[in-house]
Amino acid sequence: MFDCFRKAAPKKLVNIGCGSTYHPDWENYDLVPAQPEIKKIDLERSLPLPGKSYEAVYCSHVLEHLSRSRVPQVLKEFARILQPGGICRIVVPDLEQIARQYVNVLEAAKNNRTEAVYQHGWLTLELFDQMTRTWSGGFMGKWLGLAAGPIPDFISQRIGAEASRNQKPEAGEPLEFFARLFSQPEGWSAKAELEFQGSGEKHRWMYDQISLRQLMCMAGFAEIVVRRHNESNITNFVAYRLDSDSEGRPRKPDSLFMEGRAP
Ligand SMILES: C[S@@+](CC[C@H](N)C(=O)[O-])C[C@H]1O[C@@H](n2cnc3c(N)ncnc32)[C@H](O)[C@@H]1O
Repeated sequence: MFDCFRKAAPKKLVNIGCGSTYHPDWENYDLVPAQPEIKKIDLERSLPLPGKSYEAVYCSHVLEHLSRSRVPQVLKEFARILQPGGICRIVVPDLEQIARQYVNVLEAAKNNRTEAVYQHGWLTLELFDQMTRTWSGGFMGKWLGLAAGPIPDFISQRIGAEASRNQKPEAGEPLEFFARLFSQPEGWSAKAELEFQGSGEKHRWMYDQISLRQLMCMAGFAEIVVRRHNESNITNFVAYRLDSDSEGRPRKPDSLFMEGRAP
């Protein structure tokens, strides 16, 4: 049969809340589609997708943007649309990893090690700025926007490509740096803050392997396991490069990767 007469096989893989990270072999959905080939979906509502129809659901760095009370229903929806035995892969910022690093650098910062003082400042932003910011990017965006700043390599290790790869290291006085960092940006206003609050950019909760396992278990998933970025029960997952960068490193190193099997 000529290729042009062959009907495209329906995709059996779905990426929900894909942002700009997607692969054409998947059905890709987002609340705010970044490209015409991405379809609109809202996880605050029941998913307009047929039951028992997908081999895999992938949802990366999305659940933390939803209210904690909505997430159990979302995971139940993922279980509903998966074929029996299908794989649900959830990726979120890993609260455990951030908390462990925070405690480590806190100890070093107590000894006034300048680098550790900066690392402590950055990890504090990972913990709080993402949940409390009042304008897009928040204090993290302000730090990343600097042409020169402290600990660029540490930040790259933490968050991967989102860090400015061009940022030049600049050793300075932490007190002075943080005084400059923690000021509102020009143009900030209460009205702009109000508009920003509805944008969905802020994190509304954080998860670790205990809380995410509980949620996946409650949604009916079995065989729930923590994965590495390049490890999955989804066939050929690594080839789609959803969790790896072009050099095979984790795309978002601050992540927790978990998979479960649908009943
Ligand atoms: C931090 S981005 C992650 C994008 C991508 N999955 C990744 O790993 O890079 C969060 C994405 O979730 C989407 N999102 C937020 N709330 C959503 C909702 N209620 N329904 C569907 N997508 C949502 C946003 O539009 C955004 O593209």
